[in-house]
Amino acid sequence: MNNLRSLTLNDDAQSLCELPVLTGTTGPNVIDVQHLYRETGLFTYDPGFNSTASCRSTITFIDGEEGVLLYRGYPIEQLAEQCNFLEVCYLILKGELPTTTQLDSFQHNITMHTMVHDQLTNFFKGFRRDAHPMAIMVGVVGALSAFYHDALDIRSKKDREMCSIRLIAKVPTIVAMCHKYSTGLPFMYPNNKLSYVENFLRMMHATPCDDYQANPVLVRALDRILILHADHEQNASTSTVRLAGSSGANPFACITAGIACLWGAAHGGANEAVLNMLEKIGDVSKIPEFINKAKDKNDPFRLMGFGHRVYKNHDPRARLMRTTCHEVLNELGLHDIKLFELALELERIALEDEYFIEKKLYPNVDFYSGIVLHALGIPTNMFTAMFAMGRTVGWIAHWDEMIADPEQKIGRPRQLYTGAMRRDVPADHRKSN
Ligand code: SDX
Repeated sequence: MNNLRSLTLNDDAQSLCELPVLTGTTGPNVIDVQHLYRETGLFTYDPGFNSTASCRSTITFIDGEEGVLLYRGYPIEQLAEQCNFLEVCYLILKGELPTTTQLDSFQHNITMHTMVHDQLTNFFKGFRRDAHPMAIMVGVVGALSAFYHDALDIRSKKDREMCSIRLIAKVPTIVAMCHKYSTGLPFMYPNNKLSYVENFLRMMHATPCDDYQANPVLVRALDRILILHADHEQNASTSTVRLAGSSGANPFACITAGIACLWGAAHGGANEAVLNMLEKIGDVSKIPEFINKAKDKNDPFRLMGFGHRVYKNHDPRARLMRTTCHEVLNELGLHDIKLFELALELERIALEDEYFIEKKLYPNVDFYSGIVLHALGIPTNMFTAMFAMGRTVGWIAHWDEMIADPEQKIGRPRQLYTGAMRRDVPADHRKSN
């Protein structure tokens, strides 16, 4: 269909309208339906947006059939192998890999903004110690809007850049604070001498009473995990950020909307759900029972970490995550960790099962990430907060691209109305039942 140039809609008597076909650099062409309603009085209908492109974007490209993921044209496999997370942040934000000088300056800028306003710590005290970290993240990241009135002009490129730096720099600090708050241990301040990931691991695991030295293998593994989560085209949370941003809301509020959406088990909440599922399965002998539950239409259970709206082949991130899993478990001498063996066996059985083959259900990025994070000493209920830490740069890049897009306007979908026709309120509507 890639040679289609336009689509003409006719009724019995006449041609209603001609819809142009737009072509991108690669990937599916699109039918431009922007004027369809004005010219025909018709809406398009696409719940879940299976076949809908919401915008033009130059940031990330996914080919779900081929299992391809490119950030600004670079394959995820090469970026995960040859770059660090802040290099990838620079690439996603600015479109090109940084020179050494540019990276040093970017890294310095991020480092200088890792602390949060001291009054922000007061927001934590309102939460119970057992509050889910994502509940705290929604509250505290949203509260950042109240601390930077001086730099919230979304039409100012300088303000937008400042908000980007502040969010990429402060989200790890807030994520670590969520963990510390749940343990009753004091918050750890950032240490400007450390790299982005070393600093995060120290804020997560150190206390004021002892020195902490992060294992370099684990630092590299977490850095790679953040790269794998950095962006993923128009996924649910990124689309949420774009829609929130289209109203002119400030970037802290928009990123908070993305965090809220990511929390769902069908999206970023899946990594936590995978680990809970593996613990529930408990033993390889129980796998067939759970596979059958996942296939049973009358059972709401789904195999968490499997399936994807776009990938109908392997999620390239899942393969990289499995490799990282091996490295971390071997480094920690956990290579026989039952959970990992269970995950490998579950993957093998599922990929041989007719149902999963026919529905093209492969392990996605969340299938192995929970096991790696578990091995890194990250509590299960913190997994989605870790996902948010990686995805913050992608959300910001899409928000910034949307603001600068000349076609941008407030997002306002319509509907197919199936409710009651107009009717009058009965005079005796307060009659007793
Ligand atoms: C992420 O969009 C992104 O890019 C997201 C993400 C990112 O980086 O931002 O990649 C991150 O969210 C990864 C996905 C994490 N979620 C999970 O692992 C939860 C389990 N997966 C499913 O909930 C599901 O696969 C989704 C939500 C991921 C995708 O759902 P779709 O595309 O709407 O597919 P569907 O629900 O229409 O399923 C198609 C069929 C259905 O059967 P039929 O109605 O055709 O008979 O496949 C079945 C589903 O029942 N199916 C599953 C299944 N996933 C889909 N059956 C069992 N187990 C599963 N996991």
